[in-house]
Amino acid sequence: MMDKNKIYFFDTTLRDGEQVPGCQLNTVEKIQVAKALEGLGVDVIEAGFPISSPGDFNSVIEISKAVTWPTVCALTRAVEKDIDVAAEALKYAKRKRIHTGIGTSDSHIKYKFNSNREEIIERAVRAVKYARRYVDDVEFYAEDAGRTDNEYLARVVEAVIKAGATVVNIPDTTGYCLPEEYGAKIKYLIEHVDGVDNAILSTHCHNDLGMATANTMAGLLNGARQCEVTINGIGERAGNTAIEEIAMILRSHHDINLRSDLNTTRIYPLSRMVSSLMNMPVQPNKAIVGKNAFAHSSGIHQDGVLKNIGTYEIIDPHDVGIDDNSIVLTARSGRAALKYRLEVLGVSLEGEKLDKVYQEFLRMADKKKQINDDDLLILAGADRSANHHIKLDFLQVTTGVGVSPVASIGLDISGEKFEAAARGNGPVDAAINALKKIITKNMTLKEFTIQGVSKGSDDMCKVHTQIEYNKHNYYGFSANTDIVAASVEAYLDCINKFQQ
Ligand code: KIV
Ligand code: ZN
Repeated sequence: MMDKNKIYFFDTTLRDGEQVPGCQLNTVEKIQVAKALEGLGVDVIEAGFPISSPGDFNSVIEISKAVTWPTVCALTRAVEKDIDVAAEALKYAKRKRIHTGIGTSDSHIKYKFNSNREEIIERAVRAVKYARRYVDDVEFYAEDAGRTDNEYLARVVEAVIKAGATVVNIPDTTGYCLPEEYGAKIKYLIEHVDGVDNAILSTHCHNDLGMATANTMAGLLNGARQCEVTINGIGERAGNTAIEEIAMILRSHHDINLRSDLNTTRIYPLSRMVSSLMNMPVQPNKAIVGKNAFAHSSGIHQDGVLKNIGTYEIIDPHDVGIDDNSIVLTARSGRAALKYRLEVLGVSLEGEKLDKVYQEFLRMADKKKQINDDDLLILAGADRSANHHIKLDFLQVTTGVGVSPVASIGLDISGEKFEAAARGNGPVDAAINALKKIITKNMTLKEFTIQGVSKGSDDMCKVHTQIEYNKHNYYGFSANTDIVAASVEAYLDCINKFQQ
C-alpha cells in the first residue's frame, strides 16, 4: 500500500541542472554523481534528454547500468522519435520512466506550437499512450503549468492520467508563481481532476524570483507527493529547487508529517562533489550547504550555542554530513587512507587512476600541510587538462609594493615552445597580458572569479573563467595553491576549448 506521507525525490541535477552553460559533465562524472545520488536515497534520477545529443544518450545508458535502486528517467518532447530514442537509452535500467510533455500555457500554445488548446491535449494524450507502449511508468510534464490557467490545466492532467500517466509534473518553468498561487494550483487539481488518485502530482519549481523552495513546499503541503530538485539548487538561470533544502525542511518540521527515504548525512559530501565537478561555487550563505550555514559569529549567538546548541541551531550539522572530525590527510597518509577518504566523499578510484591522484596528492601535500575534503575532490577531477594541446610550460612573476608587476610565461602548443613577457597592474594581470602576446585571438574575458577553498595562507584557490570568442562563451576552471598559476591555467582551460 502506498504511504500517503512519503515524498518521492526526483533528482534532475543531471538533466535540468546540467543545462547550465559551463557545467557539462562527461559520462564518467555523471556516473559518479548518479552513484552518489543512489547513496543519498533519491527515488528517481533524471539522467538526461537522450535525443538531444549522443553524449546524453550514452549517459542514460551508462547510468542505467550503474545504478540499482532508483528509477532512471529520460526526458522527451511529445514527439514519437524522442520517445523511441529514450526507450532505447533506458533499455538496461532496472526501473525505468519516460518523462514526456508539452507546453500548456497560452503563450506556449500560441507562440511555440502555433496550435490551440484541443490539439495540445490530443498531442499530450498521444505521447503518453505511445510512451506506455515501452514502459509502465510514464511521467507527463505540462510545461509552463505555472502560467497555465487552472481549468484548462485540470483538463490536460485528467486526459493524460486517463491515457496512462503515472506521474504528472506541474512545472513552474519560469519561476513566476507565488507560493500561495502554486499551492492553490495543486489543490485545485487534487479537487477537480477525475482519477487524480491514479497518479502522483509532482512539483518542479524554478528559482527566478527566489521562491523555488517555498513553492515546492506549498505544492507538497497541498497534496503533491513528488518533488523535482537538484543538488545545490543548480540549474539554468537562477536554478531549480535545492534538494538539501526540501530534505531538511521535511526532517526538521515533524509538525507537517511528511517524510522521505533520504539519508541526509550524504548531503554535504554530494554538494561538494557536484560543486567541484560542475565548477559551480556554492555561495557561502547558501542554506544547509554554504560554508557559513552553521558558522555563528555574533557573540550573543556563540554564547547561546555553547550553553545549549538548540538556542540558535535548528539543524545538527552532523545530520547533513558535516563531519568536524573529518580526517585531514597529510604527506604521510598512504594510498589506502586517500582511497578511503575519497570513497566517503563518493568517489571510487582504483588502479592507475588512484596512483595518478595519489601522486598529485603528494605534490599538493608538499605545498600545503593539511589536505581537506575539498582539496581531495579537486584532485580527483584534476585530469581535466590531460587533453589540452596548449599547456603552461613555465610562469615567473615579480610583484610587490613599489615595483611594477611583470610576468614571463612559456607555453607548449602541440609540442612547440613559445615565450613572452608583459607588465600589468597586478601579478595576475601581468601573466594574462603575457599569455595574450602568444595567443593573439580576439577574446573577451566575461567572468573571472577567484575563491579560496577553505582557509589559511597555504590554501588552494579555485579560479573560474568565462571567455567570449566568436560569439560563443567558453568556461574554464583551475585550482592551485599559486593564485597566478591557477588564473593562467583557468584561462588556458577556456582557450583549449575553442582552439582544438
Ligand atoms: O522547467 C521545465 O518546465 C522543465 C520541463 C522540461 C520538465 O524542465
Ligand atoms: Zn525545469
